[in-house]
Amino acid sequence: MVRHRGARQVTQLGRNWYTPIRSDSMGRLRTNSGLAEDLLIELDRDAGVPLHRQIEASIRASIRAGRLRAGASLPPTRTLAAGLGVSRGVVVEAYQQLVAEGYLVSRSGGYTQVAASMPPAADGAGSTAASTAQPAARGVGFRVDFGYGRTDVSQFPRAAWLRSVRTVFTTAPNDRFAYLDGRGVPELHGALCDYLNRVRGTLAVPGNMVICNGYGQGISLLIQVLAQRGARRIALEDPSSDDARVLAGAAGLDVVGIPVGPDGVQVDALHRADADAVVLTPSHQWPTGGVLSAAARAEVIRWARRRGALVIEDDYDAEYRYDRSPVGAMQGLAPDHVVYCGTASKTLAPGLRLGWMVLPAHLVTGVSTAKLLADRGSSVIDQLTFADFLARGEFDRHLRRMRPVYRRRRDALLNALRTQLPELEPAGIAAGQHVVAWLPPDLDEAAVVAAAARHGLGIQGVGPFRIAGAGPGGLIFGYAILSESAIAEGVALLATAIREVRGS
Ligand SMILES: Cc1ncc(COP(=O)(O)O)c(C=O)c1O
Repeated sequence: MVRHRGARQVTQLGRNWYTPIRSDSMGRLRTNSGLAEDLLIELDRDAGVPLHRQIEASIRASIRAGRLRAGASLPPTRTLAAGLGVSRGVVVEAYQQLVAEGYLVSRSGGYTQVAASMPPAADGAGSTAASTAQPAARGVGFRVDFGYGRTDVSQFPRAAWLRSVRTVFTTAPNDRFAYLDGRGVPELHGALCDYLNRVRGTLAVPGNMVICNGYGQGISLLIQVLAQRGARRIALEDPSSDDARVLAGAAGLDVVGIPVGPDGVQVDALHRADADAVVLTPSHQWPTGGVLSAAARAEVIRWARRRGALVIEDDYDAEYRYDRSPVGAMQGLAPDHVVYCGTASKTLAPGLRLGWMVLPAHLVTGVSTAKLLADRGSSVIDQLTFADFLARGEFDRHLRRMRPVYRRRRDALLNALRTQLPELEPAGIAAGQHVVAWLPPDLDEAAVVAAAARHGLGIQGVGPFRIAGAGPGGLIFGYAILSESAIAEGVALLATAIREVRGS
């Protein structure tokens, strides 16, 4: 069936993959479906590019070009492997990677379809990386992309979520579908309080919660309210994700960076900062990965009490601690001085746009009013669904399932770094969806990032997230959506890029 022209083989398979495959006069394999969804798979055995990568690239290109439309079924791995003359594992690997990237979805019954919506296109090596920690528009132009901010949404618990949606539609009273106040739905406040007080050690009460569209909206509302109430200066971890820096600048607040060490933010610098609020990631500093020590937490709380200042706790990925239970939230130490911010973006999917804040009582009205003015409240149906999902224990179940998945990817990354790039120094605790590794002093971070991009590797440096600008070079490895073999391949590409930088 398969005809080879030299080492190059082109296979065309259609949506009706079960129809007989025949060769055309050009030596290409065709289905007799004649459907617009036909996909062209090109294999060049001399290219030095692994076959699974070539298959991935062909299918990806077909989806992007619209040749394969949303919902189109792909051939079973065995069929495609036989058609291409490769082992089934090669096709499985390619499908898995495309599922991880969001191009394909695996359906129960073992078949694979083109996803309903296409992931965003990459906009060139490192360009989004320079401006944001949420690199939504990455991933397509690179052979491997360590860009941070992509949760493995292919693992979204669709069936369990759907059960909760059904429950909401069959049980929620009509008035729940009307406008609500800016805090969100009481059912979700209750379910989240139970969860957070149990798992994160918060002292949350339902009346002090505001549901928002992710942490991104939460920090935006908080900064607005602080500015309205006369705040002048906000302290941020240096380095840190840049949402707060950009939002504070837009609200007319001064920004001061507080250096971060291996154990999180350096509190003595906070004392000198003359700030009205500080934003911290105490459970897992973003990006450097440390945990704020108990002594430093107590000192930050003393600072806040003395100054009447506010601590904004961004608890973005505490659910993913792999070696022990995570340290409890700071909010539990001083609920009158700490705003706790949580998000479903790391645990479930960023596209849900679900976040929550537990606020000191004096901020509840201001923040919920700002939320109403911003968008009249988050989707009630999503909130009720999440409340049911939490109450059924599905959230805990999902986390129990995902922790070993991410842990294996993290271990694969650390193993690959240890064997292929032992001169890099990984930092931080066993947690989350990313690792920072420091570069040796002779390697320039920007040069390594640029060389990596030339070799097909997407990776961000720590530099763009620094506030004062100084500090050692480091790389941020987002591993959440990459298969273990893609991680190893990515590290190999990085090793090649680093050799090139050294050689020049
Ligand atoms: C430090 C940090 N906090 C919070 C978030 C989550 O933001 P959101 O809830 O708006 O998706 C992210 C996402 O990447 C992040 O990097």
